[in-house]
Amino acid sequence: MPDLNDLIIVIAKSPKYQHISPDLIRQIGARELMARRSFKEAVKAAKNKLHQVGGAYFESRIDFEEALKQLAEIVDDETAVRAWCLDLMRRHASTKERLPILDEFYATTLAGLTGVCRVLDLACGLNPLARSWMPLPADVEYIASDIYADLVGFVRDFLGVMGMNGRAHVRDLITNPPTEPADLILLLKTLPVLEQVKKGAAPRLLDALKARYLLISFPARSLGGRQKGMAQNYEAQFRAWVGGRPWRIQRFEFPTELAFLVTTSQACD
Ligand SMILES: C[S@@+](CC[C@H](N)C(=O)[O-])C[C@H]1O[C@@H](n2cnc3c(N)ncnc32)[C@H](O)[C@@H]1O
Repeated sequence: MPDLNDLIIVIAKSPKYQHISPDLIRQIGARELMARRSFKEAVKAAKNKLHQVGGAYFESRIDFEEALKQLAEIVDDETAVRAWCLDLMRRHASTKERLPILDEFYATTLAGLTGVCRVLDLACGLNPLARSWMPLPADVEYIASDIYADLVGFVRDFLGVMGMNGRAHVRDLITNPPTEPADLILLLKTLPVLEQVKKGAAPRLLDALKARYLLISFPARSLGGRQKGMAQNYEAQFRAWVGGRPWRIQRFEFPTELAFLVTTSQACD
């Protein structure tokens, strides 16, 4: 009888899912094997869920190798590099919808933060390409993670070519929350995605994070463009998750995104 390992092998063989964290495939696959009548149905349902939480955000396939070659050629030209970053960020729905507000998003939400030496960008997508838009010291240590090994490799090489102090690795936030302390954690438009896979994953992650500042955001509309009441619902959910914690919360509303800068009482070691 096929089991979870077979399901992981079948899914990881498909080009669309081959780079996804096996931890996440295992988490989703186990549930679908229990819930579905057959192995085939479980594979199909698990692929659907993986598409929903990751694949659906890619606007088109990105040739990461080619993009890095282009970057290497223009790396000394600041204007060209910014144009390159904007072009790449347009290929992932999440950064794409932030582009119209990019100039103000980080300038506003991160204004006045002091003593930031280490940043974690969790479920980063292509957001590390916005690093130059963030009002942070040039030598900040920038640690990015996501569930896609190829995307994470690209981000790692991007940071390297740019001479930025940083690294990137694969991390499934549901089964493997970060343990390293940071001054600032970026958790942008991701908590609802985690809840789609496992109810309670968002507050559990919030419990695990160790940082002085958390920048947490929510989309103001769905991938399909619906926006009625979405931001209000997310805000109510967020306030329920953080209720009872000794956190100071500042709220920022943008046309496409609702953001909260949380100041916790934790110091970064
Ligand atoms: C809505 S996008 C946000 C991307 C980025 N934070 C931004 O705001 O541009 C959600 C991201 O979460 C990642 N993701 C989905 N499930 C995840 C999980 N269990 N652990 C870590 N990342 C996950 C996806 O690959 C995707 O990059």
